[in-house]
Amino acid sequence: MTQTGHRSMWSSRWAFMLATAGSAIGLGNIWKLPYMIGVNGGSAFVLVFLACIFLLGIPLMMCEIMLGRRAQRNPADGMLALAREARAPAAWKWVGIAGLFAGLLILGFYSIIAGWVLDYIVRAASGEFRGIDGPAAKQQFDQFLATPLQMLVWHTLFIVMTLGVVARGVNAGLEKANMILMPALFAILLVLVGYSMAVGDFSRSAQFMFTPDFSKLTPVAVVSALGHAFFSLSLGMGAVMVYGSYLQRHVSIARTTIYIAVADTGVGILIGLAIFALVFANDLEAGAGPGLMFQTLPIAFGSMPGGDIIGTLFFLLVTFAAWTSAISLVEPAIAWLTENTRLTRKQSAWLIGITDWLLGIAVLLSFNEWQHVHIVFGLGIFDTLDKLTSTIMLPLGGLAMALFAGYVMKTEHVREELGLGMGPYRIWRALIRYVAPLAILAVFLYLLGVIGN
Ligand code: PHE
Repeated sequence: MTQTGHRSMWSSRWAFMLATAGSAIGLGNIWKLPYMIGVNGGSAFVLVFLACIFLLGIPLMMCEIMLGRRAQRNPADGMLALAREARAPAAWKWVGIAGLFAGLLILGFYSIIAGWVLDYIVRAASGEFRGIDGPAAKQQFDQFLATPLQMLVWHTLFIVMTLGVVARGVNAGLEKANMILMPALFAILLVLVGYSMAVGDFSRSAQFMFTPDFSKLTPVAVVSALGHAFFSLSLGMGAVMVYGSYLQRHVSIARTTIYIAVADTGVGILIGLAIFALVFANDLEAGAGPGLMFQTLPIAFGSMPGGDIIGTLFFLLVTFAAWTSAISLVEPAIAWLTENTRLTRKQSAWLIGITDWLLGIAVLLSFNEWQHVHIVFGLGIFDTLDKLTSTIMLPLGGLAMALFAGYVMKTEHVREELGLGMGPYRIWRALIRYVAPLAILAVFLYLLGVIGN
């Protein structure tokens, strides 16, 4: 397929790998996965999540990179071009368009949580956690949630940081940020895990996460594990597709995908082990929910030697992770704008930045002034955006991409792009054609109340 105009490319395979790992490793691994493991009873949830990553996540990530690299365009025009090539209906472009919006919706709440993290860097650094106990930590967090203005300041900063990078383009912006932030993130992670191994209750944490107890597994837990596998690997909305569209032809998609998925899952598991080791050593509540990181970790940081520094490093690590993911949430929309309108990258970044800034304001108000505003099923603005994107839009996007690659595209084109041997290709194809669609359909049927319940 031919390229449209001049497009930037990653300068190396390493740059692509770091950027995609940067997209995958984010608040999903550090803030969301641990609290979901806690809420869903631990090990059995971990196993289902891992199965979803390996059976669905990896083949779908290969699929999304493959679609992006073949199309060499933003996800919306990319799906259209691929549909034309396969003589399929132009309506496939809606998969890409929905993805652009999903990214913007996710950033609407992502930026708020990232803002909390920024605030907690300052708290940790200024020694605010010293000697804090459970009720005090909870009160501190609740008080913060009740102060929309403070949340607005951090949300604004995070939006500026994100769009500031994206405005600089693929090489000077996305690539450079990931090349600096990702190695820093891995270094801080090693320090933290080592530290929590030394002072935390690591064996209880490992037992909680790895001794399977299937009696604790509910259908809701299975549904959330699948949704979270998509969220964690950034699948189903075109982030990976647009990153794939900047990838050089000769790079092996399968091998790169496996490295990225292993890094993403590994970071999630390591952070989970570290967090629960601190939670158990300090007799804290594993099932605390979304506040887990903000209500329990300060107590642990406040009571350990060197806790100010470790706490500051921890929240810095979370910021880096969130930042490199947020960049990829807006890139599909930015690529679409620059490739379809006369707006420059900078102007597009302003437009998207302001849109997401406004959306974020609604989200942050849903924690205080608008607490009683419910959108659907009694869910507030924050929960609606979270559930709508991770349990519906991303799996649906993933399903559509799997069906497209598995049934619509010409086999030779898929094989040419993936460059797999016959055996691995057959396995991939079976996962994409049967396993992924059936699993995703089962989840939707469950959500619709047809089965389960
Ligand atoms: N994968 C990111 C995380 O784990 C979130 C994300 C989802 C980023 C979808 C891009 C696209 O935090």
